[in-house]
Amino acid sequence: MEIPRGSLQSTTFYEQVGGEETFRKLAKRFYEGVAEDPLLRPMYPEEDLGPAEERLALFLMQYWGGPRTYSDRRGHPRLRMRHAPFTVDRAAHDAWLRHMRDAVDSLELSAEHEKQLWRYLQYAAATMINTPD
Ligand code: HEM
Repeated sequence: MEIPRGSLQSTTFYEQVGGEETFRKLAKRFYEGVAEDPLLRPMYPEEDLGPAEERLALFLMQYWGGPRTYSDRRGHPRLRMRHAPFTVDRAAHDAWLRHMRDAVDSLELSAEHEKQLWRYLQYAAATMINTPD
């Protein structure tokens, strides 16, 4: 039996959840929450949250198997190092995840994709804590 070309190629998580549009939507919704957050908003050095939204979208796209634009522009992610200038304590962690939860819910992914994405975000947020209570 002939196997059609490409049929054995697995798709990436990035492609499965809808590609760039999905990650842009996630980052946009997340930063709408940050913009209103009394703890998180003052942590962002730039007046305009647009560039931070772009960096987060590009990072997550790359992480999940999409284009490598993030690293082309920013180099190796080194996220813990990049967060070192900011006080990421338990409260900041909780607030960050709260807005992310809301953003993930807005995507209406399949239960499996949602679980996988959320597990990663929880893990990543925990590793970013750099200040004890
Ligand atoms: C746990 C709580 C967290 C807090 C309070 C926090 C806060 C911040 C702040 C204040 C910035 C600087 C704004 C900017 O210049 O972009 C930043 C950057 C960034 N954060 Fe977070 N963050 C957290 C967790 C995370 C997690 C879990 C991820 C990834 C899954 C992440 C990904 C990024 C990325 C990609 C950037 C831009 C890095 C760059 O290229 O300069 N952050 N974050």
